[in-house]
Amino acid sequence: MKKYLITGCAGFIGSNFVYYMLRKYEDILLVNLDKLTYAGNLENLKGTEGDSRHVFVQGDICDKALVTELFQKYDFDYVINFAAESHVDRSIANPEIFVETNVLGTVTLLQCAKEAWYNTEARTWKDGTKYLQVSTDEVYGALGTEGYFMETTPLNPHSPYSSSKASADHFVQAFHDTYGMPINITRCSNNYGPYQFPEKLIPLMIHNVKQHKPLPVYGDGMQIRDWLYVEDHCKAIDMVVNGGKIGEVYNVGAHNERPNILIVKTVIEQLRNRLRDDSITEDLIRHVEDRLGHDRRYGIDPTKIKNDLGWYPETPFERGIVLTIDWYLQNEEWMNHVTSGNYQKYYEAMYKGK
Ligand code: NAD
Ligand code: TYD
Repeated sequence: MKKYLITGCAGFIGSNFVYYMLRKYEDILLVNLDKLTYAGNLENLKGTEGDSRHVFVQGDICDKALVTELFQKYDFDYVINFAAESHVDRSIANPEIFVETNVLGTVTLLQCAKEAWYNTEARTWKDGTKYLQVSTDEVYGALGTEGYFMETTPLNPHSPYSSSKASADHFVQAFHDTYGMPINITRCSNNYGPYQFPEKLIPLMIHNVKQHKPLPVYGDGMQIRDWLYVEDHCKAIDMVVNGGKIGEVYNVGAHNERPNILIVKTVIEQLRNRLRDDSITEDLIRHVEDRLGHDRRYGIDPTKIKNDLGWYPETPFERGIVLTIDWYLQNEEWMNHVTSGNYQKYYEAMYKGK
């Protein structure tokens, strides 16, 4: 039985990953270490209740004593680090916590894995172990109108968020280059799907449309993101952890580039039809002040993961967006819970004056 330490899996991608792995593997142990920040939500994991293959531990990836104790208790084969502060706008307002979690937290996990897996005298690593860092295409910076991010593209991050993720990637690579640690890094494009916190573009727009609230589009709305359905990303992580060549970076993207304004218009049209509400129109769109240092375009070249591991995205955007909207319509209670209390304060502070 493979034993995984998975971190940050009460969040969006991690909780989807838990369900993906439990569906796929009978014989598995997933120990889920999550601090439960504003983005972590035990409701995301309701479907794991009573399943002994998933163990939830509330805690911080920066807590070395706790992580060491977990290694001693469970003797992990794999670590997959999803845990992060993940929102660019929050990183612009408060960069320090991004350094703590994304950089120091990653280094803590690397150190604990090294202490558990590395034989210092023989300079060998325990067989079959691997550390996988879930990174982002944002570490590459921004593209012009042409070309794609390759694994060989130099890192050139702009936001405090992407700078912290790039720094973490450098540490992961350094543990491989210096100590020979068995690692992989995955860099994916923008994910969408169930359980995404409504600070990110798609769930925020779904939430606002449903309430007939203005839809804040930053600047001209012509910034381009490359959208990946979350389940396709989960499939890629599983393939990399179980088959990726040691030391390699894999880009994960679906060649699905769209300007933000088109995404917003798609959400409007879908919800107008689904809710049969003709008052849902593009008049809700408000072009607001642009994000500072806003990256203009991201676009991933996923050729390497396709050729080396046979990964391909199974969900075209037209289907993925319908599945996503369906999920949000069917899970109103989830949305009500995550948007009560602190979310209101966040929204007012972040969008005030915009
Ligand atoms: P998320 O914000 O939804 O979830 C992050 C999770 O990490 C939360 O459950 C939170 O409680 C937990 N966490 C935060 N700080 C922690 C700490 N110090 N210790 C333990 N747990 C902590 O994020 P997500 O969208 O699911 O992203 C997961 C990973 O994927 C991140 O590393 C992110 O950088 C990366 N990524 C996300 C996207 C995307 O589109 N969402 C795209 C590319 C890469
Ligand atoms: P986001 O979902 O925050 O992801 P990221 O910044 O990591 O790409 O934003 C996606 C795009 O949508 C990005 O170009 C910023 C833009 N955006 C808006 O125009 N309005 C919004 O209210 C939000 C949250 C994002």
